[in-house]
Amino acid sequence: MKLNTILLSLAAAGMMFTSHVALASGGGVALKHASIDVVDRDQLLRGLTVFTDVCMGCHSAKYVTYKGLMDYPELGVSRELVDELRGENPLSSGLVTDLSPEDAIESYGKVPPDLSLVVPGRRGGADYVYSLLTGYAHDHDGKIPEGNYNTYFPGHSIAMPDPLAWLDHDAEETVELEQQANDVSAFLAFIADPHQNERRAMGKYVIGFLILLTLVLFLLKKEIWKDVH
Ligand code: HEC
Repeated sequence: MKLNTILLSLAAAGMMFTSHVALASGGGVALKHASIDVVDRDQLLRGLTVFTDVCMGCHSAKYVTYKGLMDYPELGVSRELVDELRGENPLSSGLVTDLSPEDAIESYGKVPPDLSLVVPGRRGGADYVYSLLTGYAHDHDGKIPEGNYNTYFPGHSIAMPDPLAWLDHDAEETVELEQQANDVSAFLAFIADPHQNERRAMGKYVIGFLILLTLVLFLLKKEIWKDVH
Protein backbone atom coordinates (compact mmCIF):
# COMPACT_ATOMS: atom_id res chain seq x y z
CA MET A 1 0.00 0.00 0.00
CA LYS A 2 1.33 3.40 -0.92
CA LEU A 3 1.67 6.22 1.53
CA ASN A 4 -0.75 8.17 -0.66
CA THR A 5 -3.37 5.47 -0.26
CA ILE A 6 -2.96 5.53 3.47
CA LEU A 7 -3.21 9.28 3.62
CA LEU A 8 -6.31 9.10 1.47
CA SER A 9 -7.98 6.61 3.75
CA LEU A 10 -7.05 8.77 6.72
CA ALA A 11 -8.61 11.79 5.04
CA ALA A 12 -11.72 9.79 4.16
CA ALA A 13 -12.09 8.62 7.74
CA GLY A 14 -11.68 12.19 8.95
CA MET A 15 -14.33 13.40 6.54
CA MET A 16 -16.77 10.76 7.69
CA PHE A 17 -16.47 12.12 11.19
CA THR A 18 -16.69 15.80 10.33
CA SER A 19 -19.61 15.39 7.92
CA HIS A 20 -21.62 14.27 10.93
CA VAL A 21 -20.97 17.67 12.50
CA ALA A 22 -21.32 19.68 9.29
CA LEU A 23 -24.82 18.31 8.61
CA ALA A 24 -26.02 19.61 11.91
CA SER A 25 -25.57 23.22 10.85
CA GLY A 26 -27.02 25.34 8.09
CA GLY A 27 -30.51 26.00 6.78
CA GLY A 28 -33.14 28.35 8.19
CA VAL A 29 -32.98 29.79 11.68
CA ALA A 30 -29.81 29.00 13.63
CA LEU A 31 -30.63 26.30 16.14
CA LYS A 32 -29.88 26.37 19.83
CA HIS A 33 -27.44 23.78 21.09
CA ALA A 34 -28.89 20.92 23.06
CA SER A 35 -26.88 19.95 26.08
CA ILE A 36 -27.10 16.19 25.82
CA ASP A 37 -24.91 13.32 26.80
CA VAL A 38 -25.99 9.94 25.48
CA VAL A 39 -23.92 8.13 28.10
CA ASP A 40 -25.47 10.04 30.99
CA ARG A 41 -27.83 7.46 32.44
CA ASP A 42 -29.64 9.95 34.67
CA GLN A 43 -30.35 12.23 31.77
CA LEU A 44 -31.57 9.35 29.60
CA LEU A 45 -33.86 8.10 32.35
CA ARG A 46 -35.29 11.58 32.91
CA GLY A 47 -35.76 11.82 29.16
CA LEU A 48 -37.59 8.50 29.10
CA THR A 49 -39.96 9.83 31.75
CA VAL A 50 -40.63 13.02 29.81
CA PHE A 51 -41.26 10.90 26.75
CA THR A 52 -43.70 8.50 28.41
CA ASP A 53 -45.42 11.14 30.56
CA VAL A 54 -45.73 13.91 28.00
CA CYS A 55 -44.85 13.07 24.40
CA MET A 56 -46.56 9.67 24.36
CA GLY A 57 -49.85 11.44 24.82
CA CYS A 58 -49.61 11.99 21.07
CA HIS A 59 -46.44 10.36 19.69
CA SER A 60 -45.19 6.80 19.42
CA ALA A 61 -41.67 5.44 19.27
CA LYS A 62 -42.84 2.14 17.88
CA TYR A 63 -39.38 0.78 17.09
CA VAL A 64 -38.50 0.81 20.77
CA THR A 65 -40.10 -2.00 22.73
CA TYR A 66 -40.65 -2.12 26.49
CA LYS A 67 -38.39 -5.13 26.59
CA GLY A 68 -35.84 -3.27 24.50
CA LEU A 69 -35.60 -0.59 27.18
CA MET A 70 -34.05 -3.17 29.51
CA ASP A 71 -31.50 -4.34 26.96
CA TYR A 72 -29.28 -1.29 27.05
CA PRO A 73 -26.85 -1.10 29.95
CA GLU A 74 -26.55 2.66 29.29
CA LEU A 75 -30.20 3.02 30.20
CA GLY A 76 -30.28 0.45 32.94
CA VAL A 77 -34.06 0.47 33.11
CA SER A 78 -35.33 -1.88 35.80
CA ARG A 79 -38.02 -4.47 35.29
CA GLU A 80 -40.18 -2.63 37.83
CA LEU A 81 -40.04 0.59 35.85
CA VAL A 82 -40.78 -1.25 32.61
CA ASP A 83 -43.79 -2.95 34.20
CA GLU A 84 -45.00 0.38 35.51
CA LEU A 85 -44.65 2.01 32.11
CA ARG A 86 -46.17 -0.74 30.02
CA GLY A 87 -49.28 -1.33 32.12
CA GLU A 88 -51.35 -3.89 30.25
CA ASN A 89 -49.09 -3.87 27.19
CA PRO A 90 -46.93 -6.93 26.50
CA LEU A 91 -43.16 -6.61 26.88
CA SER A 92 -42.79 -7.00 23.12
CA SER A 93 -45.00 -3.98 22.41
CA GLY A 94 -43.45 -0.80 21.07
CA LEU A 95 -43.89 2.52 22.84
CA VAL A 96 -47.17 3.31 21.15
CA THR A 97 -49.49 6.19 21.95
CA ASP A 98 -53.15 5.67 22.79
CA LEU A 99 -54.09 8.54 20.50
CA SER A 100 -55.66 7.12 17.34
CA PRO A 101 -54.81 8.71 13.99
CA GLU A 102 -58.47 9.70 13.56
CA ASP A 103 -58.58 11.51 16.89
CA ALA A 104 -55.23 13.16 16.14
CA ILE A 105 -56.52 14.52 12.84
CA GLU A 106 -59.65 15.75 14.50
CA SER A 107 -57.77 17.50 17.32
CA TYR A 108 -54.60 18.70 15.63
CA GLY A 109 -55.25 18.35 11.92
CA LYS A 110 -52.28 16.02 11.60
CA VAL A 111 -51.02 12.69 12.82
CA PRO A 112 -48.02 13.31 15.09
CA PRO A 113 -44.99 11.57 13.54
CA ASP A 114 -43.38 8.53 15.13
CA LEU A 115 -40.35 9.76 17.07
CA SER A 116 -38.18 6.60 16.93
CA LEU A 117 -36.02 8.08 14.20
CA VAL A 118 -36.81 11.77 14.41
CA VAL A 119 -33.31 12.79 15.53
CA PRO A 120 -31.46 11.41 12.49
CA GLY A 121 -34.49 12.30 10.37
CA ARG A 122 -34.39 16.05 10.90
CA ARG A 123 -31.68 18.51 10.00
CA GLY A 124 -30.04 19.55 13.23
CA GLY A 125 -31.06 16.34 15.03
CA ALA A 126 -31.17 16.70 18.80
CA ASP A 127 -30.44 20.44 18.54
CA TYR A 128 -33.58 20.77 16.42
CA VAL A 129 -35.77 18.85 18.85
CA TYR A 130 -34.42 20.88 21.78
CA SER A 131 -34.88 24.16 19.90
CA LEU A 132 -38.41 23.18 18.88
CA LEU A 133 -39.44 22.34 22.45
CA THR A 134 -38.04 25.60 23.80
CA GLY A 135 -39.01 27.64 20.74
CA TYR A 136 -42.69 28.39 21.34
CA ALA A 137 -43.82 31.98 21.55
CA HIS A 138 -45.94 32.40 24.66
CA ASP A 139 -47.74 35.24 26.14
CA HIS A 140 -46.74 34.73 29.71
CA ASP A 141 -50.24 34.36 31.06
CA GLY A 142 -49.80 30.77 30.05
CA LYS A 143 -52.07 31.15 27.08
CA ILE A 144 -50.77 29.68 23.85
CA PRO A 145 -51.16 32.02 20.91
CA GLU A 146 -53.43 30.71 18.22
CA GLY A 147 -51.67 28.78 15.49
CA ASN A 148 -48.85 27.61 17.83
CA TYR A 149 -46.04 29.92 16.75
CA ASN A 150 -42.66 28.22 16.92
CA THR A 151 -39.44 30.00 16.00
CA TYR A 152 -37.69 26.84 14.81
CA PHE A 153 -40.41 25.08 12.86
CA PRO A 154 -40.22 25.66 9.10
CA GLY A 155 -42.94 28.24 8.42
CA HIS A 156 -43.33 28.75 12.21
CA SER A 157 -46.92 27.54 12.35
CA ILE A 158 -46.82 24.07 13.92
CA ALA A 159 -49.72 21.71 14.54
CA MET A 160 -48.20 20.55 17.84
CA PRO A 161 -49.44 22.58 20.81
CA ASP A 162 -46.52 23.41 23.15
CA PRO A 163 -46.12 20.10 24.98
CA LEU A 164 -44.25 21.75 27.87
CA ALA A 165 -46.47 24.81 28.00
CA TRP A 166 -46.96 24.72 31.75
CA LEU A 167 -43.28 25.56 32.19
CA ASP A 168 -41.37 28.70 31.16
CA HIS A 169 -43.47 31.20 33.07
CA ASP A 170 -40.73 32.24 35.45
CA ALA A 171 -36.98 31.84 35.77
CA GLU A 172 -37.15 28.62 37.76
CA GLU A 173 -39.55 27.00 35.33
CA THR A 174 -37.41 28.07 32.38
CA VAL A 175 -34.56 26.05 33.86
CA GLU A 176 -36.92 23.11 34.21
CA LEU A 177 -38.21 23.54 30.66
CA GLU A 178 -34.68 23.57 29.29
CA GLN A 179 -33.79 20.50 31.28
CA GLN A 180 -36.83 18.54 30.16
CA ALA A 181 -36.24 19.57 26.55
CA ASN A 182 -32.59 18.52 26.79
CA ASP A 183 -33.41 15.26 28.53
CA VAL A 184 -36.04 14.15 26.05
CA SER A 185 -33.78 15.15 23.14
CA ALA A 186 -31.02 13.01 24.65
CA PHE A 187 -33.46 10.12 24.98
CA LEU A 188 -34.63 10.48 21.38
CA ALA A 189 -31.03 10.66 20.16
CA PHE A 190 -30.23 7.55 22.15
CA ILE A 191 -33.12 5.41 20.91
CA ALA A 192 -32.44 6.34 17.30
CA ASP A 193 -28.89 5.09 17.55
CA PRO A 194 -28.24 3.17 20.76
CA HIS A 195 -24.89 1.85 19.58
CA GLN A 196 -23.33 5.20 18.86
CA ASN A 197 -21.22 5.14 22.01
CA GLU A 198 -19.59 1.86 21.11
CA ARG A 199 -19.03 3.12 17.61
CA ARG A 200 -17.49 6.36 18.76
CA ALA A 201 -15.09 4.50 20.99
CA MET A 202 -14.27 2.16 18.10
CA GLY A 203 -13.74 5.13 15.78
CA LYS A 204 -11.04 6.48 18.07
CA TYR A 205 -9.19 3.17 17.98
CA VAL A 206 -9.46 3.02 14.21
CA ILE A 207 -8.08 6.53 13.79
CA GLY A 208 -5.30 5.83 16.30
CA PHE A 209 -4.42 2.66 14.47
CA LEU A 210 -4.33 4.42 11.09
CA ILE A 211 -2.03 7.13 12.44
CA LEU A 212 0.29 4.54 13.91
CA LEU A 213 0.26 2.54 10.69
CA THR A 214 1.12 5.65 8.68
CA LEU A 215 4.03 6.37 10.95
CA VAL A 216 5.38 2.82 10.79
CA LEU A 217 5.11 2.70 7.00
CA PHE A 218 6.74 6.09 6.70
CA LEU A 219 9.70 4.99 8.82
CA LEU A 220 9.88 1.75 6.87
CA LYS A 221 9.96 3.64 3.60
CA LYS A 222 12.81 5.82 4.87
CA GLU A 223 14.69 2.75 6.05
CA ILE A 224 14.32 0.93 2.71
CA TRP A 225 15.26 3.91 0.57
CA LYS A 226 18.00 5.32 2.76
CA ASP A 227 20.87 3.96 0.64
CA VAL A 228 19.39 4.94 -2.69
CA HIS A 229 20.65 8.33 -3.81
C1 HEC B 1 -50.87 17.17 22.15
C2 HEC B 1 -50.21 16.31 21.21
C3 HEC B 1 -48.70 16.33 21.20
C4 HEC B 1 -47.83 16.16 22.26
C5 HEC B 1 -48.16 15.94 23.72
C6 HEC B 1 -46.51 16.22 21.70
N1 HEC B 1 -46.57 16.40 20.35
FE1 HEC B 1 -45.00 16.55 19.08
N2 HEC B 1 -46.24 16.79 17.50
C7 HEC B 1 -47.62 16.83 17.58
C8 HEC B 1 -48.15 17.10 16.26
C9 HEC B 1 -49.63 17.22 15.91
C10 HEC B 1 -47.06 17.22 15.39
C11 HEC B 1 -47.07 17.55 13.89
C12 HEC B 1 -46.65 19.00 13.76
C13 HEC B 1 -46.70 19.56 12.35
O1 HEC B 1 -46.28 18.85 11.41
O2 HEC B 1 -47.16 20.71 12.19
C14 HEC B 1 -45.87 17.03 16.21
C15 HEC B 1 -44.57 17.07 15.72
C16 HEC B 1 -43.44 16.85 16.47
C17 HEC B 1 -42.10 16.81 15.95
C18 HEC B 1 -41.70 16.91 14.48
C19 HEC B 1 -41.58 18.33 14.02
C20 HEC B 1 -41.16 18.33 12.57
O3 HEC B 1 -40.13 18.91 12.24
O4 HEC B 1 -41.87 17.72 11.74
C21 HEC B 1 -41.26 16.58 16.99
C22 HEC B 1 -39.74 16.46 16.96
C23 HEC B 1 -42.08 16.47 18.18
N3 HEC B 1 -43.40 16.64 17.84
C24 HEC B 1 -41.57 16.22 19.42
C25 HEC B 1 -42.35 16.09 20.56
C26 HEC B 1 -41.82 15.82 21.88
C27 HEC B 1 -40.35 15.58 22.18
C28 HEC B 1 -42.87 15.79 22.73
C29 HEC B 1 -42.82 15.60 24.22
C30 HEC B 1 -42.06 16.56 24.97
C31 HEC B 1 -44.07 16.04 21.95
N4 HEC B 1 -43.71 16.21 20.63
C32 HEC B 1 -45.35 16.07 22.46
C33 HEC B 1 -48.38 16.64 18.71
C34 HEC B 1 -47.88 16.48 19.99
